[in-house]
Amino acid sequence: MREWTREERYRVLQDPEEIRGLHERIRKSVYRQTYHVQPVTGLSSDPNGFALYDGVYHLFYQWCPWGAVHGLKYWYHVISEDLVHWHNAGVGIKPDADFDNRGVHSGSAITKDGELYFFYTGNHRDENWVRTPYTCAAKLGEDGKPVKLEKPLFGPRPDYTEHQRDPKVFYVPEKESYYIFIGAQTADLKGCVLVYTSKDLFSGWAFAGQLKVPGYESLGGMWECPCIGRIGGTDVLLFSPQYTKLPGRSESTNHNIYMTGRMDFDTLTFTPSAPFKHLDYGFDFYAAQLASGVDDPDKEIIISWIGLPDNHYPTEEEDWEGSMTLPRELRIRDGRLYQTPVPSVYGLIGETVPAGEDLPRACVITAEYDGNDASLDLFAKKDGSGGLKIRYSADAGALSIDRSGMAKRFNESVGEQLDMPLEEPLKKLEIFVDHSSVEIFANDGAAVFTTHLYPAEGEFSLFSSGETSLKVQRIGASVTDDFVV
Ligand code: FRU
Repeated sequence: MREWTREERYRVLQDPEEIRGLHERIRKSVYRQTYHVQPVTGLSSDPNGFALYDGVYHLFYQWCPWGAVHGLKYWYHVISEDLVHWHNAGVGIKPDADFDNRGVHSGSAITKDGELYFFYTGNHRDENWVRTPYTCAAKLGEDGKPVKLEKPLFGPRPDYTEHQRDPKVFYVPEKESYYIFIGAQTADLKGCVLVYTSKDLFSGWAFAGQLKVPGYESLGGMWECPCIGRIGGTDVLLFSPQYTKLPGRSESTNHNIYMTGRMDFDTLTFTPSAPFKHLDYGFDFYAAQLASGVDDPDKEIIISWIGLPDNHYPTEEEDWEGSMTLPRELRIRDGRLYQTPVPSVYGLIGETVPAGEDLPRACVITAEYDGNDASLDLFAKKDGSGGLKIRYSADAGALSIDRSGMAKRFNESVGEQLDMPLEEPLKKLEIFVDHSSVEIFANDGAAVFTTHLYPAEGEFSLFSSGETSLKVQRIGASVTDDFVV
C-alpha cells in the first residue's frame, strides 16, 4: 500500500494534462467497469448531486484525481439520459474558494424555477489543519457547469463537533419551506442529523434543531450522508452510521441503513415504524443517495458508492478505485422495501452464454429456486475450488456469501463472509457482474448484496446446485471511459 504525504493527497489539480497519463494507464486495467460509473482517474466515493433535470440525469461523485486515496475532493460530473449510458462531463465543482479549500465534500441537488442547484459541504481547514465545515451552494450554468455561490449559506453549529456535513436539501409543500438535513456528531460523540429550514433557497437559513429518531439516540458516532424520501405515502430515512459494529455486519464499522416511518416537521421527529434495516447486506455499499426531481409518488431512485471508508481495494495498486452501484428503483410492497435495477439496465442484456463456458466479465446470472438449499460459486477455479461462494440454507432462511476463496483477497480484517437474510424462501437470484463488482438481487429485490470482486487468471468457472433454472447472459458496455476533465 502506497503511503501518501498530506501534500500529495491535497495537491490541487492545475491542468488536466497532469493526469492524462494516469488515465491512459488505468483505462487498460482488466478491472475497469463497463456498465457502472467509475472514476476517470484516482478515487470515486460518495454519489453527489443526483438529479433528473430537463429530461437528463446528472450525477457527481466525490473524486480525488491523484490515486486511490482520500485527499482533496472534487465533484466529478457524469450525465445520462437513461441511467445506464453515462458519459464523462468533466470536473463539476472544484475546491477553489477559501471556504472549501480542503475539499468540496458531499451534497445533493434540487430544482427550483427551472434551474438546478447543488448544496455541498465546503471543507475548510486553517493552517493548523483545524476544520470548519460550511454549507455551500452552486447552480448549473448555461454551459452545463456548476457555478458556485460566492459565499457559504451558513457555517457549523458551535454545540456539535467539526463533523457536520453532507447537506440533503428538499422542499416540504405542507410547510411551504425548504429543509436541509446535515449528518453530524453531537458533543458527546453520537451520530445525529441537524435540521435547517428556510422559506428561500439562498437566504434566511435557520437551525431548527436536531432530528429526533426515537430509539436511535445512540447509534454510532457519526451519521454520514443522511437522505429522506417518500414512497407510496411512507417516509424513508437513510443514513450511513459510523464508528460502531452492527449485527449482521461482521467487523465492519461503516454501514448504510434505512428506516421506514413518519416524518413530522412540526416536532422534527422521524418515528420509525419498524427497526432499522441494512439497505444492502454486502461488504461494499455506502453513502446512498436518492435522486431528486423524479417526482413519482410510488418510487425513489437510489445510487450508492461500491466501497467503504477506511477500506482498501486491490486496484489501489493501479492508482484507482471505487465505482457506483447500478441505479436502483426503491418501492414499497406489503410494507417492505424492494430494490431493483432500473428497467433500462435490462436493455443492456445480450446473448446467452452456453453452459460450461467461462463466465464473461460483464454478465447477468439469473437463477430460479424452489425454496430448498442451494449453492452457486462464481469465479471459481476449473477444479471447483475457490470463487465467491453463495449458499442458501432454507433452515437459516438466509444466503451466506463468502469471498475468502478468491485469489485476490482484501479487507480480510472486516470479515470475508456475510449473511443476507430473506423473509421468504429463496425463489430467485439476479446477479449483475461487472469487471470488479457483483450485485446480487434476491427474490425480486427483497434483499440486495453488493461487493467488489476481482477475478484473476483461471477464476472464471461457475458451479451450482439446487436451482430449477439458470442462465448466464452477456451485458453490453454502457459507460464511456473518455478523458474529460
Ligand atoms: C462519506 C464522506 C462524507 C464526506 C465525504 C468526503 O464517505 O466521509 O461524509 O462529505 O465522504 O469525501
